[in-house]
Amino acid sequence: MFSKLQITKLTVLSIIVLFISCAPALYIPGKDNVTLGSDLAELQAGRKLYVNKCGSCHTLILPEKHTAAQWPGMVTRMEARSKITPGESKLILKYLLKGKE
Ligand code: HEC
Repeated sequence: MFSKLQITKLTVLSIIVLFISCAPALYIPGKDNVTLGSDLAELQAGRKLYVNKCGSCHTLILPEKHTAAQWPGMVTRMEARSKITPGESKLILKYLLKGKE
């Protein structure tokens, strides 16, 4: 049987592995990203929505992969598929556009 300590170690290890494999380089919004009329809370909400709503059909695409001119159309196209509200898609877009500023 596993001891409590072993279980704790395994749990910690699993969380680390999950973290590394699920979100390789999806930036965590910080103060430096707050530049375009969106506050930190919006960016954090946008990241959360992006991770939760946009990763079920395909892997999460890194913000850097598309330009600020390309993202809006793509998010709009995915809005209906993801069953998100226009408000939620706006937050996701804010998060995605911060990545390259
Ligand atoms: C119900 C499934 C589904 C969900 C949910 C979904 N997508 Fe997609 N997405 C697709 C499919 C299928 C494609 C490929 C076909 C296409 O481009 O229409 C795609 C393609 C894309 C592409 C183009 C990929 C490339 O590199 O050319 C982007 C960007 C994208 N999705 C972003 C998003 C975002 C942002 C969200 C969340 C708002 C999202 N997707 C949610 C199914 C989904």
